[in-house]
Amino acid sequence: MTMDKDENIRILQHRLAVAGQSHLLQFWDELSVAEQQELYMELNAMDLEELSQAFQKAMRGGSLLPEKENVDIKMEPLPREVLGSTTRDQDHLPAWEKEGLRQISQSKVAVLLLAGGQGTRLGVSYPKGMYDVGLPSHKTLFQIQAEKILKLQQLAEKQHGLKCVIPWYIMTSGRTMELTREFFQKHKYFGLKKEDVVFFQQGMLPAMDFNGKILLEEKGKISMAPDGNGGLYRALGAHHIVEDMEQRGIGSIHVYCVDNILVKVADPSFIGFCIHKGADCGAKVVEKTNPTEPVGVVCQVGGLYKVVEYSEISLATAQKRSPDGRLLFNAGNIANHYFTMDFLKDIVSVHESQLQHHIAQKKIPYIDVATGKPLTPDKPNGIKMEKFVFDIFQFAKNFVVYEVLREDEFSPLKNADSQNGKDNPTTARHSLMSLHHRWVLNAGGHFVDENKTRLPAIPCCTNGRSNMNQADVNHNLKDACDVPIQCEISPLVSYGGEGLEEFVKNKEFHAPLIIDISGVHELVKNGV
Ligand code: UTP
Repeated sequence: MTMDKDENIRILQHRLAVAGQSHLLQFWDELSVAEQQELYMELNAMDLEELSQAFQKAMRGGSLLPEKENVDIKMEPLPREVLGSTTRDQDHLPAWEKEGLRQISQSKVAVLLLAGGQGTRLGVSYPKGMYDVGLPSHKTLFQIQAEKILKLQQLAEKQHGLKCVIPWYIMTSGRTMELTREFFQKHKYFGLKKEDVVFFQQGMLPAMDFNGKILLEEKGKISMAPDGNGGLYRALGAHHIVEDMEQRGIGSIHVYCVDNILVKVADPSFIGFCIHKGADCGAKVVEKTNPTEPVGVVCQVGGLYKVVEYSEISLATAQKRSPDGRLLFNAGNIANHYFTMDFLKDIVSVHESQLQHHIAQKKIPYIDVATGKPLTPDKPNGIKMEKFVFDIFQFAKNFVVYEVLREDEFSPLKNADSQNGKDNPTTARHSLMSLHHRWVLNAGGHFVDENKTRLPAIPCCTNGRSNMNQADVNHNLKDACDVPIQCEISPLVSYGGEGLEEFVKNKEFHAPLIIDISGVHELVKNGV
């Protein structure tokens, strides 16, 4: 049977013609039977009409059109009453944390990890969570996060005497699913129970040119990309994750990105704050201090809560300041959110279809349908459509914002070391070690150099950092003062700096220092 004579193929040809996508079968006759079958299945499963509508809608609302509405003039700052802060509300922190731990101890808290991205800028062929940023322990991002979950379960159990579970829902994509699963299997789920780690896959959408024509990656293969981290909501419905959460009795969900090495997974104080405020949806933010920093800000637009991207704000608005001297729009979005179960259910079952795709212009390698040749463009030649995880703020009935310190909680891994000096493996590693260094000092420990002279608490030179790895040395040449003392504390020992006195108080250490469940290790002294 040749497939082009098949009735099914004729139907597909017709559907493609109606949708203006006939070029996708241009190379049909050159494909093997297996390739034909694969392409057929892929195209047949595609809702071409929905896709075309999404494209039109996204183009109308997207940044490609000059007449795009100016959101800038409609922006309003966050009302005081929705705000909480780890620095300005220190008196409340213990109560919030206690409440969060109480919820965790009753197994009412789940975490939801967004790990479906392609990590194009980092440029590795495997999922970002498997990346080792070069810490002394060589733990990957997945392992660090898993151990934080384990530790929190222990802390909650200890405080409330209840055996508890924080289920971990991990969203992957077609491009990351298999490797992610295999990695967790290989590492025995890092000590978590297999049944409490639930993988599910987000959807993919085809890449298109600026006229809405779908691009071919190969002659028999559509160019597909994950549908953005806001693809979460459709995927939650499609894979019955909400039902799973309900069956487990979950009340609160913490959503976060895989690439933030400092993320406080299921942060009890954030959860406790949201619960105290009676919030259905919450966003953790860091203060934007520089008007030109490329970060989206949480604010109100026309009475609704939104994240406004930096590209949508004029410099004049970005520079506005409130009477206290801080930027007026300073709530920097870090894609770290709180949802109640009811809110999430409502989004998945009612509002998901209302979410609009955003458009990202990209350089997309493609097959030129005129010549059949693969082309790699040097400027953007098409678009990818993505939904964003924060686009649901507008549906919240009681939205809150929780500001945390960037140096304590946010250091994303976006770029490769070679690319630029920001948000790369070196900065991620340094942020974590610098935080852990401060934990040791705050718990009464000290660092000394090879002459037993105490090192200053605020690093100011390369003193005592003689055991830097090559990336640190390179980085160090650029800016000596940025290199922290090498110090790493296992999340299994301390979740957020607590409980370290017994290991470090009134003691002196040589870096590199590792504190893990087997004890305190000074790597050089012990010749490790
Ligand atoms: P980014 O937007 O930074 O994308 O994702 P990325 O894939 O990590 O990196 P680039 O842009 O290709 O270089 C922020 C978070 O959202 C997740 C990512 O895994 C990351 O945790 N994400 C992104 C998804 O889960 N799905 C997507 O479709 C896109």
